[in-house]
Amino acid sequence: MSFYVTTPIYYVNAEPHLGHAYTTIAADVLARHMRQRREDVFFLTGTDEHGEPVADAAHAQGLEPKELADRNAERFKALMPRLGVSNDFFIRTSDEGHELRVQEVLQRVHDNGYTYKGLYEGWYCPRCADFKVENEILEGCLCPIHEIPLERHQEENWFFRLSAFQEALERLYAERPDFVMPPRHFNEARAFIAQGLQDVSLSRERLKWGVTVPWDVGHVFYVWFDALLNYYTALGYARPGEDLTGRFWPATYHIIGKDILKFHTVFWPALLMAAELALPHHVFVHGFLLGADGRKMSKSLGNVLDPFQVMEELGDDALRFYLMRDVAFGADGTVGMDAVRMRYDAELANEYGNLASRTIAMVQRYRDGIVPGVATDPELDVELEGLPQDVAALMDRAQPTQALELIWQRVRRLNRYVEERAPWQLARDPADTAKLDEALASLVEGLRTVNTLLHPFMPATTDKLRAALGAPGAEVTSLEPLFPKRG
Ligand code: ME8
Ligand code: MG
Repeated sequence: MSFYVTTPIYYVNAEPHLGHAYTTIAADVLARHMRQRREDVFFLTGTDEHGEPVADAAHAQGLEPKELADRNAERFKALMPRLGVSNDFFIRTSDEGHELRVQEVLQRVHDNGYTYKGLYEGWYCPRCADFKVENEILEGCLCPIHEIPLERHQEENWFFRLSAFQEALERLYAERPDFVMPPRHFNEARAFIAQGLQDVSLSRERLKWGVTVPWDVGHVFYVWFDALLNYYTALGYARPGEDLTGRFWPATYHIIGKDILKFHTVFWPALLMAAELALPHHVFVHGFLLGADGRKMSKSLGNVLDPFQVMEELGDDALRFYLMRDVAFGADGTVGMDAVRMRYDAELANEYGNLASRTIAMVQRYRDGIVPGVATDPELDVELEGLPQDVAALMDRAQPTQALELIWQRVRRLNRYVEERAPWQLARDPADTAKLDEALASLVEGLRTVNTLLHPFMPATTDKLRAALGAPGAEVTSLEPLFPKRG
C-alpha cells in the first residue's frame, strides 16, 4: 500500500525552531515505521516562500524576497538530516515545477466557475497573511494567534467560492469522522463550517512575490492557496521524468499544528473539490509545545527550548525520543531542558541504555559473546506477543506517543526479567546452564524486538544496537554506552 505523509511547509521569514522540528520528527517517525512495514512511502516537507510576511521580512533586512528565501530555505533543508529526518523530497514553493502546477490547478478552479472578482474588506493579520472573521478576533482587535493589532484592509481581488462547498463539506464531515484527527479538532473544524462559510480571497494585486494568476497577470495568488497546493505539486516533479501523482495521491496523512487547522480542514478540501482532485485520507492536528512555564514559547518570554542545545548536550535521538514521549501527540504540552534531562537519565540511560549494555556484557561474560541458539522463555514470549501488531495499530492512527509507551513497558519488563533471572547467580551453578542459556537468548531476542520497534523513533541509536546484537549462534560485539551517564 502507498503511504504519503506531509508536514506543513515552513515560512522562511524566520529561522527553524523547535515547533518545526517537532512536526517534522513526528512525520518522520510515521514514515520510517511504514517503511519498516514495507509500505510504499513518500514523505514530504519543505518551505513556504511567497507572500507578504516573507516579502516584508526581506525588505526589512534590505534583501530581495528570493534572497531571504534562499538563505533560510537552506537552513531548513540542512536541519532535516541533523534531526535524522528521512524526507523523500524537500519542496520550495519558489520551485518552477511547483509554480507551473499551481497555475494549472487554479486555472481549472477558475474554469470550473469557482472564482469571481470582487471587493474585499476586513481585518487582516500581516503575520498570518490572513483575514480574520469577527468571532476569531480577540478583544482590542488583536490577532488570536499572534496577539498583534489587526489592520483594516480593503482590496479588489479574485475570490474563491468557498461558500459553494458548504453542503459538500458538511457531508464530508458527516461521512468521514476520521477525516480530521484527533476528535477534538474534528469537532472544531466541523463547528467552523457549521457557522456558515464566507468566500475567501484568492489573489493579491499589490504584491509581486507570488505565483502569477494566469488569467489576470497583474495578480499573484494569495499565499495560502499556493502553499496548500505544495502537497499536490511536489508529486509532479520530485523525481525528474517521473510523475508520482498516480502512485501517492491523495495523502494518507497531512500532519499539521493546530494554528493552521482552518486552512487544512476547510479551505483545502474545498479547493480540492473545486479542482476535481481526491481528498486526503486524514489531516492530523497536533497541539502546541509550550514553554516550561505553560505559556506559548516565545523568544521574548525566554521560555524557548532550543533543539540545537538538546542535540549538542544529549544527542539527536534524545531530542526525537523526548518530543515523542513527553508530549502526547495531538495535545498541548510543556517542554523544557530539565524535563529532557530527566527523561534522558531515567529512561534512555538507566532503562534502555542499561538494558542494552548489561545484556551484551552478560553474553560476553558467561557465553564468550555467543548468543545461545536455544528457545526463548515461553513465559516472557507471551508477554511480548502481539507487541508489533499493537504498535502498528497505534501508528496507523498516528499515535506515536501511545506506541512508544507500549514499547517502553516492554523495555521495563526486560529489565525486570534480568533481576528475576539473575544470570550472575545462574552462572555459578553448572546445573543451571540451560536456564542461563534460555535467559540470555530471551533477553537478546526481547531486546532485538523492542529495538526494531524503537527504530523509527531513534534511528541512529537503534542501528548501533542492532549491529552489536548479532543473531542466535552469532557473536555480540562490545558497545559504547548508547546514552552515556551525564557527569
Ligand atoms: O504556518 N508547537 O508555517 P510556520 C508545535 N507556512 N508546533 C509548532 C509550534 C509550536 N509551538 N510552532 C510551530 C505556516 N509549529 C505555513 C504553513 S502549510 C501548507 C503552510 C509547527 O513556519 C506546527 O506544525 O508558521 C505549525 O503548524 C507549523 O510549525 C507552522 O509553521
Ligand atoms: Mg506560524
